[in-house]
Amino acid sequence: MTILGIETSCDETAASVVRDGHELLSSVVASSMDLHAQYGGVVPEIAARSHLEVINPVIQQALDEAGLSWDSVDGIAVTYGAGLGGSLLIGVLTARTLALVHDKPLYACNHVEGHIYANFLTDTSLPGYTMPSSAPEFPLLAIVVSGGHSQLVLFEDHFKYTLLGRTQDDAIGEAFDKVAKITGLPYPGGPSVARAALDGNAHAFELPKARVGKYDFSFSGLKTAVLRQAQALVGEDYSFPSYKLPERLSEANKADIAATFQRVACETIVDKAVLACEEFAPVRVVLAGGVAASAELRRQLAERLSVSLSFPDVKLCTDNGAMIATLGCFKATLGQPTADPLSLDIAPNLSM
Ligand code: KG4
Ligand code: ZN
Repeated sequence: MTILGIETSCDETAASVVRDGHELLSSVVASSMDLHAQYGGVVPEIAARSHLEVINPVIQQALDEAGLSWDSVDGIAVTYGAGLGGSLLIGVLTARTLALVHDKPLYACNHVEGHIYANFLTDTSLPGYTMPSSAPEFPLLAIVVSGGHSQLVLFEDHFKYTLLGRTQDDAIGEAFDKVAKITGLPYPGGPSVARAALDGNAHAFELPKARVGKYDFSFSGLKTAVLRQAQALVGEDYSFPSYKLPERLSEANKADIAATFQRVACETIVDKAVLACEEFAPVRVVLAGGVAASAELRRQLAERLSVSLSFPDVKLCTDNGAMIATLGCFKATLGQPTADPLSLDIAPNLSM
């Protein structure tokens, strides 16, 4: 079963070919991130326009790198939600057209489920990938941590899962991005906060952990606490305009904020994951989403979980086509319904 996956839910235009749900044959990601950096976040119109410019060459490159022609492709998987409407539209309309032109079955994929399925990729002959040694077994606990989502999901089997809890406000990646903005670190915030944190004291001050439902999260209070802490460090009150903060913070201040925030944000996730492991005894815990690239999160989980933990290669944590192609392989193999190439619509607010 060889599936072409297409992902355009945010600012990455991505395509990939995956065989049998575990072998990565190609993965091409074109990001418009540089075009958004000056705005401190993704500008939906710019993202949609750049998807349109690069989607055809990205798909062709994914086929070329896999050394395959359309004849060898058994189906097309595409992200139809959640994500930015304009961005999703480009991927979905492209996939619908290709499914009709090449007469292939079409699989509509949930972006967040896709992130989880990146963990099933265990083989590749492509250079530069570190894959888990075995595919996850069930029951498995998925920790989904991205720029748009923070949730704990318990899988009994493929396509049989329960959402245990989710963020009540910001996603953890969004909190990384906002803390970067507060401290003047470059977008995207995850990697830049992680870099700054290397020189900081992770116990420089107290930051709060929100009290919410047993398996739910909240990051907006933590973000506000970081803003207040930054203001306290420069000795200004709450009416001091926050956009003036970065220039008044020293490099040491920024490093301490980054390190302390990163520790507390990751602990917030890990505390709940530990609880879920105690209650549901999964045989494997998998990390998914852009923040799964966080070395601090991986370190804390490895330290505190007794169950086996796996995570995708860093390149497969942030948005990519391989995770969608992998999910598509399982949908095709396990008889999940196909989508109608004449009518598949986008679902920007799709949840799990
Ligand atoms: O999954 P993703 O590529 O996009 C969404 O579906 O949201 O995740 C992007 C998020 C961004 O918020 C980014 O700051 C965060 O992942 N991120 C990280 C790291 N690398 C990316 N967060 C923490 N540590 C990292 N190393
Ligand atoms: Zn994502």
